[in-house]
Amino acid sequence: MQNREQWGSKLGFILAASGSAVGLGNIWKYPHMAGENGGGAFTIVYLICILVVGLPIVIAEFVIGRKTQLSPVGAFETVAPKSNWKWVGMLGVASAFVILSFYGVVGGWTLKYTLISLTGGFSQLAGDPEASGTLFDSFIKGALAPILWQIVFMGFTIFVIVQGVKGGIEKWTKIMMPAILVILVVLMIRGLTLPNGTQALDFLFKPKFEDLTASSIVLALGHSFFTLSLGMGTMITYGSYLRKDQNLLSSALWIIFLDTLIAMMAGVAIFATVFAMGADPGAGPGLIFVVLPTIFPKIVGGAIWGTLFFFLLFMAALTSAISILEVITAYFIDEKGWGREKAIIIFGSVVTVVGAFCSLSMGAFNITSFMDISFFDVLDYLSSKYMLPIGGMLTALFVLYRWGVPNFITEMVLGMDDHNINPAVVRILFMVSAAVVGFILLNEIIATITGTPIIG
Ligand code: PFF
Repeated sequence: MQNREQWGSKLGFILAASGSAVGLGNIWKYPHMAGENGGGAFTIVYLICILVVGLPIVIAEFVIGRKTQLSPVGAFETVAPKSNWKWVGMLGVASAFVILSFYGVVGGWTLKYTLISLTGGFSQLAGDPEASGTLFDSFIKGALAPILWQIVFMGFTIFVIVQGVKGGIEKWTKIMMPAILVILVVLMIRGLTLPNGTQALDFLFKPKFEDLTASSIVLALGHSFFTLSLGMGTMITYGSYLRKDQNLLSSALWIIFLDTLIAMMAGVAIFATVFAMGADPGAGPGLIFVVLPTIFPKIVGGAIWGTLFFFLLFMAALTSAISILEVITAYFIDEKGWGREKAIIIFGSVVTVVGAFCSLSMGAFNITSFMDISFFDVLDYLSSKYMLPIGGMLTALFVLYRWGVPNFITEMVLGMDDHNINPAVVRILFMVSAAVVGFILLNEIIATITGTPIIG
């Protein structure tokens, strides 16, 4: 254990963890979810969920990881030996397999779209959503091309983490995170200076409470886990490479701040462009891959903006995919004594093969066709509606009822200069967080069984 890899600097850790959080969830999912759920109203609920549910669990994961210096399975086993809590860790490793399988597919799409834009391919889509839709559909439904792009994307992921925690993950996120921020600022300014671009601000931030529905609350809650990479031990794993001098509270606040800031900036950049060109903000998941390619060529320098945008999306997806594969890798290193290279090559390949079935399920061959839903959607649905919320809720319950709030606080305050943490407040925060997630899970289960949710 004394050989465990460590982050090189406090900033490196914050950038790596926020790199995990900032991903397709922020730039692809949040804007289209907000677009379909009343903009400002959704944003407000999302922010509340992040603070009430997300913050306590981010901190819990960091504290558990740093305390045990182990990835999730070993971490739960160390604090609660010979109990069933290690299964929460196992659930995390399973979630990592599930999420990375479909995440890698979309990662491949971002690369393909970067290339299309770079080679001027959007120009014949100007103002023509139908042509753009056909291009996107025929690409993702193809058998070979999307799998090849997925393999390239997974190759980048493997390339980075094979180089280790400090020499790979930290080194590359330290380059990519600032690049993501700079590109977003540029795209946001570009969008806001287009005629009518500022309508985006009203749309995203002026809440119209009549638009607030129960289902948008449920959606926002599920999304807060996904966007913060919570409930599957990613933050436990990243926390396990920390020394005791890192202030975990301020680190968690930074990560939440950066994750939220980037989601909002992406929303502004995208909707400013959408409004300026009179496109439909409620276009759903196709907003980015179908609507934007029709808009970019209408803006001066469109090929540049389009390329920057999809490259930004690629980097954001990559820094997240790295963290997901690291959860699997760290499990095999910590628990099975494998070498890093062996774990990454074997499981990077396994995930890529499962991912290929996700990609095929978009059109060519769907192994879950008997369920009337694509394999891709099955994995997405399973992970964001069940696996991550269950993992997150159990993590909160673990701190409350197994580890104990006083022990938790003893570890948490290491690295904090001045602290005055009230155990009762901590207990309440975890209880509220676990209760809210528990209710939403119950709601989802009831909805699945009876067809009518309690809310939503
Ligand atoms: N947070 C990432 C996103 O918003 O795209 C997705 C993700 C990464 C989920 C890592 C879970 C995880 F462990």
